[in-house]
Amino acid sequence: MRILVIGGSGFLGSELVRQCVASGHDVGATYLTRPGEHPEVAWLPLDVRSRADAAAVAGAFRPEVTINAAYRQADWTTTADGAAHVALAVAEAGGHLVHVSSDAVFSGAAPCYDETCAPDPVNPYGAAKAAAETAVKAILSGAAIARTSLIIGSGGSPHEAFVRSLATGRVEGVLFTDDVRCPVHVADLAAALVELAAARMAGVWHVAGADAVSRYELGVLIARRDGLDAARLPSGRRADTTLPGPYELRLDCAATQRRLRTRLRGAREFLAPPAP
Ligand SMILES: NC(=O)c1ccc[n+]([C@@H]2O[C@H](COP(=O)([O-])OP(=O)(O)OC[C@H]3O[C@@H](n4cnc5c(N)ncnc54)[C@H](OP(=O)(O)O)[C@@H]3O)[C@@H](O)[C@H]2O)c1
Repeated sequence: MRILVIGGSGFLGSELVRQCVASGHDVGATYLTRPGEHPEVAWLPLDVRSRADAAAVAGAFRPEVTINAAYRQADWTTTADGAAHVALAVAEAGGHLVHVSSDAVFSGAAPCYDETCAPDPVNPYGAAKAAAETAVKAILSGAAIARTSLIIGSGGSPHEAFVRSLATGRVEGVLFTDDVRCPVHVADLAAALVELAAARMAGVWHVAGADAVSRYELGVLIARRDGLDAARLPSGRRADTTLPGPYELRLDCAATQRRLRTRLRGAREFLAPPAP
């Protein structure tokens, strides 16, 4: 499969690239600031804020499938307009699109959200991701939109780095006990996205982990896996702050899981400490 990973230099993008190369796919990957590390990959500079540049990259590489994992949390133009530019580029160059979205499109007012739920974002990042979904659907009705949650790895994610810094006293902060997500392992997420791409699956898919955990519980799990003192992790309540955004976001992934071979493990499973 000839596959283009937009945002291939990012955390999720790097794992997508790694898995696609390992499976023998013909891989192109884009970066904004610096290329990733896989030498087998055609690294292509791309700023998705430019509609013309997105069209030029897709037109030159001619992918059979494109997975868009590019975003910038505080930049509407990258996250929303950029997603539209990528969808337009794929519409023009041909092929299937998998667009990576987020649980942040939801407010958290409902106990949980399945694939049929309409976005009701409450912060600018969620609004940009919701706008991106609307644009992708309007431009390419056959595209897959994959909503995910906190992405965790085997040490490499910013969430894990933050927990390590807290547990070793290098930074100050707290982990909220009332801020709940369904973390997913980056390897499970990437495998699921490649499945959606390979099978040309269309529509909205929920690709998050099976366990809903608070940021504090997630921190404790990470600290224990990494052999750090979880008792040093400070806890707090988001309700005691003025931070905007959803408190509890539970993605119901049952319908998506039934269609995938990849098992979406929960955080309690993938962060279990190695057996002695
Ligand atoms: N991380 C999470 O916990 C989480 C949770 C829910 C959903 N998501 C979604 O998952 C996806 C990937 O997240 P991630 O954590 O892997 O992100 P990341 O590590 O921050 O990577 C973002 C990627 O986007 C690229 N990028 C940024 N601005 C760009 C622009 N203007 N034009 C082209 N490329 C640009 C970056 O390039 P450079 O590195 O070269 O600058 C990088 O390759 C995003 O859609 C995000 O919304 C993430």
